[in-house]
Amino acid sequence: MKNIGVLISGGGTNLQALIDAEKSGIIKSGRIVCVCSNSSGAYGLTRAEKAGIPTKVIRKNADCGGDIDEFSEKICEYMKEMNVDIIVLAGFLAIFGGKLLKEYAGKIVNIHPSLIPSFCGEGMYGLKVHEAALDYGVKVTGATAHLVNEVVDGGKILLQKAVEIQDGDTPEILQKRVMEQAEWIILPRAVEMLCSQ
Ligand code: GAR
Repeated sequence: MKNIGVLISGGGTNLQALIDAEKSGIIKSGRIVCVCSNSSGAYGLTRAEKAGIPTKVIRKNADCGGDIDEFSEKICEYMKEMNVDIIVLAGFLAIFGGKLLKEYAGKIVNIHPSLIPSFCGEGMYGLKVHEAALDYGVKVTGATAHLVNEVVDGGKILLQKAVEIQDGDTPEILQKRVMEQAEWIILPRAVEMLCSQ
């Protein structure tokens, strides 16, 4: 049984999908032991508390003086303290490197709301990804669950799922469809894949 640590920044609907997947048995080789957010206002923290999962807030600017290495180190320390084996970036919108990446090489999974290698890389997160897909005029988008390495959105792809774009889509409508039809399905499966290895 692996200990899972989840990093979030916002609403935490992917965290909710993980909590539900653990309850329903889709995730059976791991359990969520903590949730860490880089924003104190993240609703995902409330979701974690409701599920009885310990939480912590670590902010890059307010807690680490804007130092990315210190930020990475503090998160790493918390993950170690909680005996975390596998880290999930579930809508974690901050970039980090350093210690955390080294200590957890091959053990960090991220969910990205497009079919990588389209609409990804630095600065491509959240609604911006869906705006870019609509601006480009692609007819199919989706989500990707992948391992995290030093290249932003560049690690090994674990799972992908395609989602059709429809006439009249706005970034918000598309974001919701991609979450419902792809992210909330493939992220728990990818986490189980990693935990059962
Ligand atoms: C999700 O759509 C996730 O794929 C995206 O942020 C959203 C967070 O929603 N992540 C990225 O764009 C990472 N590059 P949530 O907080 O409700 O899970």
